[in-house]
Amino acid sequence: MVSKKFRARGIAATVAVLALGLAACSSDGGDSGDKTPDAGGGDKGGNIKVGFSQLGAESGWRTANTESVKASLTAENGIDLTFSDAQQKQENQIKALRDFIDQGVDVIAFSPVVETGWDEVLQEIKDAEIPVVLVDRTVDTTVADPYVTWIGADFKQEGITAGEWVKANHPDAKIFEMQGTLGSGAQVDREAGFDEVVGAENIVGKASGNFTRAEGKAAMEAALQAYPDMNLLFAHNDDMGLGAIEAIEAAGKVPGKDIIIVTVDGVRDGLQALVDKKFNYVVECNPVFGDQILDAIKKVHAGEELPKETIVVDEAFDQTITQADVDARAY
Ligand code: AHR
Repeated sequence: MVSKKFRARGIAATVAVLALGLAACSSDGGDSGDKTPDAGGGDKGGNIKVGFSQLGAESGWRTANTESVKASLTAENGIDLTFSDAQQKQENQIKALRDFIDQGVDVIAFSPVVETGWDEVLQEIKDAEIPVVLVDRTVDTTVADPYVTWIGADFKQEGITAGEWVKANHPDAKIFEMQGTLGSGAQVDREAGFDEVVGAENIVGKASGNFTRAEGKAAMEAALQAYPDMNLLFAHNDDMGLGAIEAIEAAGKVPGKDIIIVTVDGVRDGLQALVDKKFNYVVECNPVFGDQILDAIKKVHAGEELPKETIVVDEAFDQTITQADVDARAY
């Protein structure tokens, strides 16, 4: 995936701007039940049948992304949606994809929990001639042309942006890197971008917190014991950073001072920690792109040409962000 430069600034911009010219449509705000066709009834009068496999509900980012997807893929917008939550388990996701094939959906959209292990099911989808819109994370597969289009963030650039801030502001830091779900595009690429900039010799340790608050807390508790000289945490998402704050305070240290904290996402809780001076820098990963997924699905279904990838452009925030900015945050 291409790396694009971020615009770093002190306040949040909540609207994702898409590269490659995909048009934005309506606004977000609704909901629909898991593993059930979207409310709207019947055969939806020619609506596009979409199977969407979400990887889980592990973070504030994921919750906001799911809300955005469900608000856009509605019967009113011409979609007959079957939504499935895989609870961060690849086997659940593969089962959901097979169910979608059996249901004969028109389009499959999914956000893969990890990059590898999809060859068989992607081939089955291809054999069934169902087009795929890949969302958020990416796949690494031997299947040729496994998806029509991908929409998501430039994870490598997010890591680079975080690394550049660390290098400029804390060049001598002893860094602990808390990784997201191992083998996920978000973990692999953020780590590659960050490590490239700060240099492996400045990273005293790494461990995964699986993108969740609870596992982030546990990983930080262990890291405080294992790396007593560590003074900077780079967490691959806000939720793990928020869990780490609890561990740092419990150890009698001050987050944001004794241990500098840099995260990715920019959900409201993360930006609040920035205002409260417990986080020091947050690189945004904007989850609100359901309208763009809707647009892509409609074009795919109509057989229109689409770019192979569409990058959601992100911002970055430092401690100059205000409470008003946080209060105005949409997610
Ligand atoms: O793939 C996007 C990442 O997944 C978000 O940064 C993280 O919060 C989520 O779990």
